[in-house]
Amino acid sequence: MEEMKYLCEVYELLPRCGPGDNESTRRAFNSMLKPSAQPLILDIGCGSGMQTLELARISKGKIIALDNHQGFLDILMKKASEDGLEENIIPKNISMLEMDFDPSSFDTIWSEGALYCMGFQNGLKRCRQLLKDGGYLAVTELVYIVSDPPIPVVRYWESEYLDIKDVKSKVELIENEGFQLLLNFTLPESSWLNNYYLPMERELPELKKKYQNNKTALGVFESFQREVDFYKKYSKYYGYEFFVMQKK
Ligand SMILES: C[S@@+](CC[C@H](N)C(=O)[O-])C[C@H]1O[C@@H](n2cnc3c(N)ncnc32)[C@H](O)[C@@H]1O
Repeated sequence: MEEMKYLCEVYELLPRCGPGDNESTRRAFNSMLKPSAQPLILDIGCGSGMQTLELARISKGKIIALDNHQGFLDILMKKASEDGLEENIIPKNISMLEMDFDPSSFDTIWSEGALYCMGFQNGLKRCRQLLKDGGYLAVTELVYIVSDPPIPVVRYWESEYLDIKDVKSKVELIENEGFQLLLNFTLPESSWLNNYYLPMERELPELKKKYQNNKTALGVFESFQREVDFYKKYSKYYGYEFFVMQKK
């Protein structure tokens, strides 16, 4: 799909490919009760890997950084080498829908803003199979952060992400899938703006100039701008929730 090329070109220019920040990654990591001294971690949908690098710094473990876009893995490994972390990170270009790891392989599975690509519930099931007993899963997931979001917000998400629910429904799902929830918290607005939407807004004018005669590219950039504008208007109704859980 031609759009994907321009989507990736935008993402490759940003500090990360979705909302998040290192402080939230650390907060989630520190809520794990007894992490192994040198854990084996799988980071699903790692993108350009801001959280992968932070995990490498704080966990002292080995991280398999999985994504199906080679451009993101290249950016991640360049930064890893600049930070002296390349020994800790093993890039793997494969679809999360085709993971071929043995069951019970991982101490921890991480997935910021990406588990939805295989369906949140299906993702929980798949991660449970891949985790050792007592292993940890930390994910961020799009949620309504109020119980009665206004109609324009519901309409928007009905067309963009039907699986969006309130936090309580996601917690029920997590517990029904055989996990004990250890911590959940909503990412601050700054983690949508500082590493993601504001850098995106800074890059869009240059990209629009570069592709001024390309309708497909311009369509992609306009839809990004609409997404940013929508967030600025309605950010108090939806957000990303960090869920940290342990396999029962
Ligand atoms: C919203 S981004 C999040 C990236 C990163 N975790 C972050 O928070 O910056 C989602 C990531 O999932 C990856 N992705 C999407 N579908 C995938 C699939 N089927 N298999 C592996 N990775 C996938 C994308 O390439 C992208 O890097």
